[in-house]
Amino acid sequence: MPCQPRSDTLIFFVNGRKVTERNADPEVTLLTFLRKNLGLTGTKYACGRGNCGACTVMVSKHDPVSKKIRHFSVTACLVPICSLYGAAVTTVEGVGSIKTRLHPVQERIAKSHGTQCGFCTPGMVMSLYTLLRNHLQPSEEQLMEALGGNLCRCTGYRPILESGKTFCVGSNGCQQKGTGKCCMDQRENLSSSLDRKSDICTELFAKEEFQPLDPTQELIFPPELLRMAENPEKRTLIFYGERVTWISPGTLQDLLELKAKYPEAPLILGNTSLGPAMKAQGRSYPILLSPARISELSVVMKTSDGLTIGAACSLAQVKDFLTESISELSEEKTQTYQALLKHLRSLAGQQIRNMASLGGHIISRHCYSDLNPVLAVGNATLNLRSEEGTRQIPLNEQFLAGLASADLKPEEILESVYIPHSQKWEFVSAFRQAQCLQNALPDINAGMRVLFKEGTDTIEDLSIAYGGVGTATVSAHKSCQQLLGRRWNELMLDEACRLVLDEVSLPGSAPGGKVEFKRTLVVSFLFKFYLKVLQELKMLVRLFSMPDSSCYPEISDGFLSALEDFPVSIPQGVQTFQRVDSHQPLRDPVGRPIMHLSGLKHATGEAIFCDDIPRVDKELFMALVTSTRAHAKIISINFSEALELPEVVDVITVEDIPGTNGTEDDKLLAVDEVLCVGQVICAVVAETDVQAKRAIEKIKITYEDLEPIIFTVEDAIKHNSFLCPEKKLEQGNIKEAFEKVDQIVEGEVHVGGQEHFYMETQRVLVIPKTEDKELDIYVSTQDPAHVQKTVSSTLNIPINRITCHVKRVGGGFGGKVGRPSVFGAIAAVGAVKTGHPIRLVLDREDDMLITGGRHPLFGKYKVGFMNNGRIKALDIECYVNGGCMLDDSELVTEFLILKLENAYKIHNLRFRGRACKTNLPSNTAFRGFGFPQGTLVTESCITAVAAKCGLPPEKIREKNMYKTFDKTIYKQAFSPETLIRCWNECLEKSSFHSRRRQVEEFNKKNYWKKKGIAIIPMKFSVGFAATSYHQAAALVHIYTDGSVLVTHGGNELGQGIHTKMLQVASRELKVPMSYLHICETSTATVPNTIATAASIGADVNGRAVQNACQILLKRLEPIIKKNPEGTWEDWIEAAFEQRISLSATGYFRGYKAFMDWEKGEGDPFPYYVYGVACSEVEIDCLTGAHKKTRTDIVMDACCSLNPAIDIGQIEGAFIQGMGLYTTEELQYSPEGVLYSRSSDEYKIPTITDIPEEFNVSLLPSSQTPLTIYSSKGLGESGMFLGSSVFFAIADAVAAARRERNAAEDFTVKSPATPEQVRMACADRFTEMIPRDDPKTFKPWSIPVA
Ligand SMILES: Cc1cc2nc3c(=O)[nH]c(=O)nc-3n(C[C@H](O)[C@H](O)[C@H](O)COP(=O)(O)OP(=O)(O)OC[C@H]3O[C@@H](n4cnc5c(N)ncnc54)[C@H](O)[C@@H]3O)c2cc1C
Ligand code: FES
Ligand code: FES
Repeated sequence: MPCQPRSDTLIFFVNGRKVTERNADPEVTLLTFLRKNLGLTGTKYACGRGNCGACTVMVSKHDPVSKKIRHFSVTACLVPICSLYGAAVTTVEGVGSIKTRLHPVQERIAKSHGTQCGFCTPGMVMSLYTLLRNHLQPSEEQLMEALGGNLCRCTGYRPILESGKTFCVGSNGCQQKGTGKCCMDQRENLSSSLDRKSDICTELFAKEEFQPLDPTQELIFPPELLRMAENPEKRTLIFYGERVTWISPGTLQDLLELKAKYPEAPLILGNTSLGPAMKAQGRSYPILLSPARISELSVVMKTSDGLTIGAACSLAQVKDFLTESISELSEEKTQTYQALLKHLRSLAGQQIRNMASLGGHIISRHCYSDLNPVLAVGNATLNLRSEEGTRQIPLNEQFLAGLASADLKPEEILESVYIPHSQKWEFVSAFRQAQCLQNALPDINAGMRVLFKEGTDTIEDLSIAYGGVGTATVSAHKSCQQLLGRRWNELMLDEACRLVLDEVSLPGSAPGGKVEFKRTLVVSFLFKFYLKVLQELKMLVRLFSMPDSSCYPEISDGFLSALEDFPVSIPQGVQTFQRVDSHQPLRDPVGRPIMHLSGLKHATGEAIFCDDIPRVDKELFMALVTSTRAHAKIISINFSEALELPEVVDVITVEDIPGTNGTEDDKLLAVDEVLCVGQVICAVVAETDVQAKRAIEKIKITYEDLEPIIFTVEDAIKHNSFLCPEKKLEQGNIKEAFEKVDQIVEGEVHVGGQEHFYMETQRVLVIPKTEDKELDIYVSTQDPAHVQKTVSSTLNIPINRITCHVKRVGGGFGGKVGRPSVFGAIAAVGAVKTGHPIRLVLDREDDMLITGGRHPLFGKYKVGFMNNGRIKALDIECYVNGGCMLDDSELVTEFLILKLENAYKIHNLRFRGRACKTNLPSNTAFRGFGFPQGTLVTESCITAVAAKCGLPPEKIREKNMYKTFDKTIYKQAFSPETLIRCWNECLEKSSFHSRRRQVEEFNKKNYWKKKGIAIIPMKFSVGFAATSYHQAAALVHIYTDGSVLVTHGGNELGQGIHTKMLQVASRELKVPMSYLHICETSTATVPNTIATAASIGADVNGRAVQNACQILLKRLEPIIKKNPEGTWEDWIEAAFEQRISLSATGYFRGYKAFMDWEKGEGDPFPYYVYGVACSEVEIDCLTGAHKKTRTDIVMDACCSLNPAIDIGQIEGAFIQGMGLYTTEELQYSPEGVLYSRSSDEYKIPTITDIPEEFNVSLLPSSQTPLTIYSSKGLGESGMFLGSSVFFAIADAVAAARRERNAAEDFTVKSPATPEQVRMACADRFTEMIPRDDPKTFKPWSIPVA
């Protein structure tokens, strides 16, 4: 093998310390380098694609053009270390630390309750920190922009935003500032008698306590780097890696020579296109050319006719240049710039805009490119350069299609882009529609330009280009040519739509699907452009007082609503809760909004998650090999090639399992047969994660397909393929009741599944010990005892040899109840076989592919009712798609049947449910456990009744709601008193009735935008319907210095259970929380625990902690009595002297849950959580987009243990529910492959998706006898309240359909994506598009529910 030449030394700084890397590997990203080489684990991996912001760090560079230091946020997962030559990197560890000094950003995010699981927090901190480094007092708009690229799955963003707002201009502590109102005003305005009481509080944190921001304390740009920048190295730097060589020339001439020498080598700028593409295709380029040090590519030139922007300028810089030009030039010249700017605001998140270059964007020619369609219609020119010289090519259709004659030559580079000014009588617009407002790739976009003959409405020139409708940006050139000379009127529009639909045709099987939606948007965008131009033409003509202005078609007022896009607004809101009794001692923390115990550690990156544990001696890495077939016989597995790769140690197969391979139904590793794509077959163990992942590509598996292959509920029913028997509940006599009703409606509801998308993917570290077959397992799980048990049976060793440790979990939501045991067991087999510790960290894609999620549901209902809206009979049949294994599907089916009645008393009911067995990954527990899907059927049915009765849905809800003490369908007695209170409070707080009228008024005036409002009640049963789950234990030790160690059976998932437990222990022991500590959850300290799930974690564990503390206090009582003036430390010392045990186990034997399914009777749940949410939305009927105007939630939390945590749970669950019902869409191929398995395709809500006004109040003065201090578990219930957004959207759609005389009853489909909404708002454009006969093509994706 030839000897590798010596690399240059890579020099950069991290947190003020110099990094000198002599063997920099171009394939290593900054994220890997920080975590593995520098041990800076505060920066997290969550998606690896630049989409989630968990890995955000700040990069500071000397700008050779402006000669200033630029600070900008980047996603470290996409930054190759070699690109950092001469840069300074600041990570969360460099910002501040608990050990030294907290930065105000860190302090405020924690104290504002902006952290739950804390996995997103370092990224949030870094985005905020970078913002403050650039703007000491940012505006709220800048704040939103800075956080737009950071995802959080727990908090619902509100508290994060609140913490950021404390730095904003004019921040005065009022959480509603910026509106001209104040939260205090709102409290006064609220007519509710309860709010006038002084025991109601709206402050979850005390802003006055925050330390001020002191910019003098920030790290300075390293002087050494400044010297390097002032004296730039002109020499070419080369970094040789194992597979890739990185060449960074110092001059333009050198770059051109290198490009001529290596014509195939790509230029690497932001790596936001190359990086993800190389990862997805598993390929690498042998040579990468980095033009980062060549200032000529970053030059910007303003001329009298246009703007020339250097190809290496970042999109964020382009945004700034355009903003500047727009402010300097007359409006007529900036049409193209304004259109570009519009798209730049919503293109990706801030970090990506900081990294991605204009040149990289253009040259990548992604079919979804937001800028290329606008640049193309705006007649932009590409300035190319090679050793031969310079030349210009137009950025036109041929270039975008990649035609060789119109493209760069291999030896050429793009130097800059010239974008001409627009001229008078010229109009340019940009359009875009994505799954959500921001940080989502567009489904379809467009750039449109028209030039009129001066002073007329006659088209002189027209260009239209679309993205997302083919493999490249597509131009409607022929259509435009045919329209030249036409006048700008309705006739022209009709003709244009016809021509464009013909030219920009999209086959039924087009990749990406959504074909009819995209076709509709092709013409809807055209219509918007038509109206916009018409309006501007009219204004122009009026401006010049031209005589024939009257000949332009009128735009009716109602149609003007088509013109505005939804702006990004700054969310506001108030959180109300009951203050603790004024007699409660100050030291007693129960009921107070105490910060999450780990909050500060989350914010400084010092909180250790499973994969942050430093590499242990001889550790190996595991990667999983999964099935690529949905149902097939495994014919052979050949891993010889994989084993030949360097650093590969072993392949773990089913033969290596010493004990049992899971259960008959749920195997750890597939044997002989695979049941779904993504099923684990075997695993590779290697010295590095990179080699383990490369090796799995080399494993050859041959299959023989088996029949049947079932993916959908429909097919499962056809094949009688079910996982368990039908579950049924019935009351009254529905047959008779249906005969006596005035009307009957039948309908169908389809609810899509949901991916947990916990920010921390599944991870486990198994460390085998040398003695007695002992194993230590560090695992991210909600149920360590289950992992322990599964590992025990897999290895055939007793449970007592295995200790599972859970420090904290980066989000679970049900997805870490069952699956971690499978990963733990496979890793344990690897550990025992190799004798080495094994680390298994799933990539986001693998996590999404392998682990199932929420069950998709298909529901059918038949409802009989009187004309006044009283429902007399209801028959609902639900089918959930359980996937290929039972997992929790039977329990989920039971739960959804038990909970289906929601808040309604209907005398004659029949609920039936079945779990379908399909060839998809097994679906599993997810927050709400069937309730959010099932109850959508019930509420849809109510909405349908309302439509038939001609009454508003809230009237039907109110009429049929439980009113007095009663029994549920399964005969459990309960009182709905607080449900009614929540309903009335919510009606009042949301000013529902007056807003309903305003909505109607708005809808009368606007044709293309419609508003909708909905108020949804909820009765949510808490807990498991099995007695064994209602128990918990705790172990409390008091040490001789008086400090107390608390352990209990609950796991910290972000829900703040440890904080609540210490609040309980503090009250019971009467010592401040600072005396108390929780180290971890471990099966060695508290055995035989139940999963932390079903909202009862704090209930049961709280009682166990209480019990242990009471036992201890009882033991201390004689000592305290003897020395009442003594201190805690005195008493503990005395107790030790007197040989009193200072350690106690607490135990809680909880609720006796029972359910007799034969009789359909039981007492399955200890109590109910009641809540009501009212949401208002506005939809754009032409695009299907929506904005959430306002949400009000009233929740019965009884006596909250910690209002900050509980409100956080409600808000977080609500936003997660909103995601389920509006944006989170799982797409499967007809072969059962999950397409949407990355953060690119699967969209959880971002900060711009939360309601503009979001108010949450906890119902005061409510009690429940069964729980600790009369508190309630609120982990799951808020999820369903997200459906208020769904029903508000449905309300708006119904208004549109009414106006268009379309049938009001349409099949309900969740999520209500822009596609669903647009297609439901049937109009002339939906009618215009061609529709394919489903039999004539194979769709890109299939619905599975
Ligand atoms: C999370 C995420 C979200 C995104 N969202 C959107 C979105 O909403 N809308 C959208 O339109 N785009 C989106 N993008 C795409 C993004 O705009 C492009 O990836 C980016 O602009 C590419 O620029 P880059 O500098 O990173 O290119 P690189 O990845 O560095 O390079 C890309 C290609 O360009 C070539 N190249 C670069 N510069 C030159 C040059 N000067 N001369 C010749 N060839 C050159 C390279 O050879 C390479 O082939 C998103 C990307 C990510 C990662
Ligand atoms: S953006 Fe880097 S891990 Fe998600
Ligand atoms: S706190 Fe944001 S992801 Fe958990």
